[in-house]
Amino acid sequence: MNHSKYSSAQIALHWLSAFIILWSLIAGSCVALFNVSEGARLTFTALNISLTTLFIPFFVVRVCLRVNHLCKYKFGAGEWLPTFVHNLIYLVTAIVLVTGVLMMNRPIVVFGWSATHQLITNPHLLRGFHAAHQQSTAMLGFLVVLHVLAVVKHEMGGNRILKRMSF
Ligand code: HEM
Ligand code: HEM
Repeated sequence: MNHSKYSSAQIALHWLSAFIILWSLIAGSCVALFNVSEGARLTFTALNISLTTLFIPFFVVRVCLRVNHLCKYKFGAGEWLPTFVHNLIYLVTAIVLVTGVLMMNRPIVVFGWSATHQLITNPHLLRGFHAAHQQSTAMLGFLVVLHVLAVVKHEMGGNRILKRMSF
């Protein structure tokens, strides 16, 4: 089996993650950058917190499948760069999720259900994790743009890379 052959579980989790990450990046940035009403800000923030918290266990499964994939297949000479960038996407996504949870200055509420108590109360630490969340989401946004542009470039060059991520 070729390294680029992904399992059905990896493909399903890729598209689920892509949807949740793209949505949270776009909605989170719009709320942060534009002058939206207080009601819209609260609604979008609560929705994003719920979606991304529910996403955490799926992300953990995806990391396990990725590690298994990397252990199983031998990589060709030209594959180190995409492999490195994909691993970097995993690492930065993990940082975004951890800093998101740790920066919370109130309990995490998932669609009306209280999921955890506030984990950190020290205001200095909370500010630090907030800044780290902003910086890591900016870095993730950059990597996602790079990733999508790379896919478009390959597809336009006749390399049907999207087939690898299709069932
Ligand atoms: C419209 C958006 C997207 C398209 C068209 C797309 C397409 C693809 C394709 C074709 C591959 C296979 C590349 C290869 O085997 O060399 C891939 C892999 C990958 N993509 Fe995306 N992608 C999108 C969004 C995202 C997003 C938002 C993320 C997460 C931030 C992401 C993370 C990854 C990762 C980590 C891999 C490596 C394979 C894996 O472990 O699942 N992608 N993507
Ligand atoms: C893939 C996961 C995530 C993505 C892509 C994401 C994305 C973002 C973005 C783009 C912002 C705006 C940043 C800015 O002010 O410049 C933001 C803010 C925020 N995020 Fe996340 N986030 C994720 C996970 C989480 C998690 C797991 C939590 C908590 C459980 C969380 C809680 C928050 C909160 C409360 C804000 C608003 C901060 C404020 O009011 O300034 N995020 N997120």
